[in-house]
Amino acid sequence: MKKAITVLPGDGIGPEVTAAAVHVLQAIAKRFQHEFEFHYAAIGGAAIDTHGQPLPDETIASCSTADAVLLGSVGGPKWDANPPELRPEKGLLALRKQFNLYANLRPVKSYKALESASPLKAEHVSGTDFVIVRELTGGLYFSEPRKKTSDMAADTLVYTRKEIERIVDSAFQLARTRKGKVTSVDKANVLASSKLWREIVEEKKKGYPDVEVEHILVDAAAMQLIREPSSFDVIVTENLFGDILSDEASMITGSLGMLPSASLRDDEFGVYEPIHGSAPDIAGQGKANPAGAILSAAMMLRHSFGMAVEAQAIETAVENVLEDGYFTADLHGGRILSTDAWTAKVIEELDSESVSESICFS
Ligand code: NAD
Ligand code: IPM
Ligand code: MN
Repeated sequence: MKKAITVLPGDGIGPEVTAAAVHVLQAIAKRFQHEFEFHYAAIGGAAIDTHGQPLPDETIASCSTADAVLLGSVGGPKWDANPPELRPEKGLLALRKQFNLYANLRPVKSYKALESASPLKAEHVSGTDFVIVRELTGGLYFSEPRKKTSDMAADTLVYTRKEIERIVDSAFQLARTRKGKVTSVDKANVLASSKLWREIVEEKKKGYPDVEVEHILVDAAAMQLIREPSSFDVIVTENLFGDILSDEASMITGSLGMLPSASLRDDEFGVYEPIHGSAPDIAGQGKANPAGAILSAAMMLRHSFGMAVEAQAIETAVENVLEDGYFTADLHGGRILSTDAWTAKVIEELDSESVSESICFS
């Protein structure tokens, strides 16, 4: 199958982890006889430097003609003092809005090999396997009015019925393919937008009688994620709560560098990116964990290209490399490899999976 992928490396460790994911996709193309065409475009601080804006028109055009987009990360101290319109993060937010990517899926899975790499006790972490469904194009990130003077500042939190209904539907549909439980996280004891959110979840659940539903206030959810992470299946929540809870949840797996994500709308198109940022403290040192980016590429294969077997091959290779005791510097307890060396292990693993298959079939 032939597919066009736009790669947006971005800033900091973004170029390092996207390069790793591209190498893994090239190995997949070779093994499964696909043709992946990679087109590179600028976003974030890198785009501000070369094009004077964080999301240039050429980048939008390249993404528009692509089957899917692989993104690294944006941001860094160099651009922190820029005005809001010229911040790298603005490019990422504009990309999500431009392509109507309202559903951000962030799977959180504990690996056996990483149970002792987590700051939580291994017995709490064991068996964790849930997905955070984060609303991505509404809420505080985008609502108007937004204002700042030296004496006051305001952000606005607006959600429409339509925005809540579609993300809640995504969560229910996902739960049906998993363990059949939705946890809706809100702050309905204080926020009007959360009250509407909770009402809509209650209405929607009538259409999914096979799915169990619970509501948790966001502060209690933050606690429950640490107390019993394995109790969750699908968590659905608004934009900012989802951002915060997913960084918290990443530590269940051992590192922020482990978590992938898919930003989706109603067709096959998607933007795939690790949940972490540009990590300026380790950029350019070969220390970045590329697993989040590599697993994001696996999500791309599954969601945008319908390549479930290929996606599984990547996920199994990642798991096997961890099982073999090869870690990156952010994880504690294994043999520490550089970004490139760890990626090479994943590719070796993919190649050996294919050798053992051909032995089986011959
Ligand atoms: P961050 O996620 O970049 O880093 C937080 C900590 O986690 C750092 O210590 C970093 O070294 C570590 N870390 C992150 N990813 C890692 C990886 N793959 N391997 C090993 N260690 C990793 O968050 P921050 O420091 O708060 O933000 C830095 C910049 O990134 C900011 O400009 C922020 O706006 C931006 N950011 C971008 C995205 C994105 O592009 N999606 C996400 C979050 C933050
Ligand atoms: C993420 C990031 C972004 C967000 C920032 C960089 C705008 O933290 O993708 O999680 O808050 O959505
Ligand atoms: Mn974030």
